[in-house]
Amino acid sequence: MDVTLVTGASSGLGEGFARALAARKHDLLLVARRQERLAELAVELTSGNGVSVKTIALDLAAPDAGETLMAEVAERGLRIDTLINNAGFGARGAFAELGLDEQKRMIALNCTALTDLCHRVLPGMIERRRGGILNVASTAAFQPGPWMAVYYATKAFVLSFSEALHERKCGRTA
Ligand SMILES: NC(=O)c1ccc[n+]([C@@H]2O[C@H](COP(=O)([O-])OP(=O)(O)OC[C@H]3O[C@@H](n4cnc5c(N)ncnc54)[C@H](OP(=O)(O)O)[C@@H]3O)[C@@H](O)[C@H]2O)c1
Repeated sequence: MDVTLVTGASSGLGEGFARALAARKHDLLLVARRQERLAELAVELTSGNGVSVKTIALDLAAPDAGETLMAEVAERGLRIDTLINNAGFGARGAFAELGLDEQKRMIALNCTALTDLCHRVLPGMIERRRGGILNVASTAAFQPGPWMAVYYATKAFVLSFSEALHERKCGRTA
């Protein structure tokens, strides 16, 4: 079954993407850490729109998250037709005073997981000549943010990376 994968779908923009896509009759795979919120949303979107909504509770900042997610996708007989790389967070404060672990988690989620998922789904999309990826950056991508230094830098990465993929016809060499 072809599905649209929405990361960070348990609240905020991700939940909004899920609602909008369900209304357009996309079958969905929703991913975030809070399983209960995903499950409640899945029930609501399924009954309200007549679409299939699957959920996977996963910490995408974990080092093996992409591999774990794609193994589960294969196990369930799903195929990612569209990827909405939305999960992300920002910590506010002076760089030297914020915890290093939290800042590294930000990079792991906002940059590494996003890149990992693009790399895992793109070859299939290119082969099928069908599909799409939406990476959620921010206006933070356009300038440095002294009180959210790492967050702004992660979003600059997302914008640069996404524009590069788009320019080279979705990462193909020919
Ligand atoms: N809101 C804004 O004004 C704004 C502006 C520009 C860009 N953005 C970007 O838009 C995206 C969504 O932001 P938002 O404001 O909607 O934030 P939000 O309401 O806090 O939602 C973030 C989503 O990401 C999920 N998430 C967080 N950490 C995760 C992890 N380690 N593994 C898996 N899922 C995780 C959260 O679910 P769980 O907690 O259940 O895991 C939640 O579903 C982010 O990339 C953000 O940088 C937001």
